[in-house]
Amino acid sequence: DKGNHRHFMQKEIYEQPVVVAQTLRSYLRRMENQIAMPDMDFDLAQVKRITIVACGTSFYAGLVAKYWIEKFARVPVDIDVASEFRYREPVLESGGLALFISQSGETADTLAALRHARAEGQIIAVVVNVPTSSMAREADLLLPTHAGPEIGVASTKAFTCQLAVLAALAANLARAKGKLTPEEEADIVWHLSEAPAALNQALARDGQIESMAHLIAPARDVLYLGRGPDYPMALEGALKLKEISYIHAEGYAAGEMKHGPIALIDDAVPVIVIAPSGPLFEKTVSNMAEVQARGGKVVLISDADGIAIAGEGCMATIEMPQVHPLIAPLVYAVPVQLLAYHVAVAKGTDVDQPRNLAKSVTVE
Ligand code: F6R
Repeated sequence: DKGNHRHFMQKEIYEQPVVVAQTLRSYLRRMENQIAMPDMDFDLAQVKRITIVACGTSFYAGLVAKYWIEKFARVPVDIDVASEFRYREPVLESGGLALFISQSGETADTLAALRHARAEGQIIAVVVNVPTSSMAREADLLLPTHAGPEIGVASTKAFTCQLAVLAALAANLARAKGKLTPEEEADIVWHLSEAPAALNQALARDGQIESMAHLIAPARDVLYLGRGPDYPMALEGALKLKEISYIHAEGYAAGEMKHGPIALIDDAVPVIVIAPSGPLFEKTVSNMAEVQARGGKVVLISDADGIAIAGEGCMATIEMPQVHPLIAPLVYAVPVQLLAYHVAVAKGTDVDQPRNLAKSVTVE
């Protein structure tokens, strides 16, 4: 049932504050200011290396997790898309932790990769939305997302719930490794608890985003740029746009622009820049200026501070709430989802059932 929404995708975008809160409830102990994980029959402190494997949007959640885990826990992370992992003969030392991320828990390549990792002596952790799925059953450590059923083919609420679980996991691992003081842990708990309210504030931009869809809908190509943990959000924004609106889009690490793609820039290629305030802001903005100097039309997604500094000269800006860099990827998922959604609606495509795509990819 779509309720009063036009599409399941729209409904699921709007459910995010509630389902992220629901997911966080099982990983945060607010009273104790602590992160909580399900019981494990292995010692997280002994984990020396993590291998993350997933497909599509779930893979992008994994890319964000790599930044978080390496930053907070100082544990090295390898990451692959499942269809590459399986065939590249990865070196997996026994006792390593392999982490699989999947909404459905049935994606064929991810499931095969899980079985390969198990055969290679890895401990198997899964972040999965369907609790009765094959991946959930085959896990040593099951980390559920509580997004509820996701009907729209394009993943939205499952993704932000994955990010919430992965942030909690990164913090828990950091604690196990002695890299997090109780004060730092309390700080992370606090910022994660703020995420649902920040998601609501991001959703409040919906009307404004809808009104700028006509700027993107006629484009043949769109570029998305981001840095650090917001680089995967550029990849995710591009994936959402191409899968539901059929516009060709690419996500790039902002600093990679000058190594090739800047040659594409002209006034017909909109460039979406994802740049929350924070330590990486200035660098991203200088990449944005390089685009503008070549006539590129920029849509800047940032907060009030960022827009005050860099908003002038942009084709449009989308203002997000001022949030801690830790939760920025969750919050900035919303405007890229909404932008793709409204562009697709403007183009009249089948938003919930895009051509050639299936909700669960059970072929390899
Ligand atoms: C994109 C999308 C797909 C899935 C991918 C993995 O919007 O939905 O890229 O993320 O097929 O699916 P799961 O997470 O079920 O393994």
